[in-house]
Amino acid sequence: MNQSEFELQLKKILKINNIELDDSKVQNFFEYYKILSEENKKYNLTSIKDLKSIILKHFLDSIMGLKLFEETSKKNELYKFDIIDFGCGAGFPLVPYKIYNQSIGKLNKIIFIDSNSKKINFLNILFKNLKFKNNHKIMTLHSRLENFNSTDLSSKLILVGRAVGEINKILSNIINFLFKNKIEYAIFVYYAGPNFIIPENRIVKFYQPSKNIKKTNDVRFEISGKITEYSYQSKKINRKLAVFEIKNLK
Ligand SMILES: C[S@@+](CC[C@H](N)C(=O)[O-])C[C@H]1O[C@@H](n2cnc3c(N)ncnc32)[C@H](O)[C@@H]1O
Repeated sequence: MNQSEFELQLKKILKINNIELDDSKVQNFFEYYKILSEENKKYNLTSIKDLKSIILKHFLDSIMGLKLFEETSKKNELYKFDIIDFGCGAGFPLVPYKIYNQSIGKLNKIIFIDSNSKKINFLNILFKNLKFKNNHKIMTLHSRLENFNSTDLSSKLILVGRAVGEINKILSNIINFLFKNKIEYAIFVYYAGPNFIIPENRIVKFYQPSKNIKKTNDVRFEISGKITEYSYQSKKINRKLAVFEIKNLK
C-alpha cells in the first residue's frame, strides 16, 4: 500500500462524515495503518485487515463516538480529567481520537490498559512512531482494569471502552476498579451496537469480593446511563453511544 493511495481513501471516507484532517494527522494515520498491518502479520491484533474496513470500522468509528461525546457532554470534560481506554486492544477508540484531537492529553493523562501484553507492546511501538505537537501524558499498562491500582489518578475519571465484553460484567469490573482506587465519580463512554439496550438505572451494592477486597454492604454505587444513536458513512452504519455516570454514594 503506498501512502498516496492510503491518503486518498482516508480523506474521502472522512470527508463524507465531515471530518477534515491536516497533513500531520494524515501522516499519523498512515503510520498507524502501516504498523498495525505489519504487526498484525506477526500476531493477532485485529481481525479487520483491509484498508477500507480499517478506516471505517476502526479509525472513523473511534473518532465518531468520542466526537459525539465531546459535543454532547459538559464542556471541557475530555481535557480536565484523566481518561482510561480499557480493553483498548490495538488502541481503539482512544488512539484515533487522540490523533484527530491532539488537545486531549496535554493537561490530563491518557492511559491505555489491556490484559493482553502483546497489545500493549504494540501500542508502545506505535507511540514511538506517532508525532504529536505538544507534550503528552500517555501511559500504557498491561493489566486488567479491575486489578489496576494507582494513587496518581484524577478524582473524577473518564473511562472509555469498545468491544470489551458484556455490559453488566464491564460495569462490575469498573466498580471494583473505582472502589479500589477510591474514586468517587466516573463517566463511562461505551461504544455499543445498534441493538444495545441500557440496563435500568440502578443502585448497586458493592459486592465483588476478591482476594484483596473484603465484602461490604456499606459501599453503594449509583449507575445511570443515557444512549445517543448515531450513524455514519451516509447512514449505512448505525451505532449507539452509551454514557454512564457512576457515583459512589458512600
Ligand atoms: C475485542 S477486543 C477490543 C479491542 C478494542 N477496544 C477495539 O475496539 O478494537 C477486547 C480487548 O479487551 C481486553 N480486555 C477484556 N477485558 C478486560 C479487562 N477487564 N481489563 C483489561 N483489558 C480487558 C482484551 O485483552 C482484548 O484486547
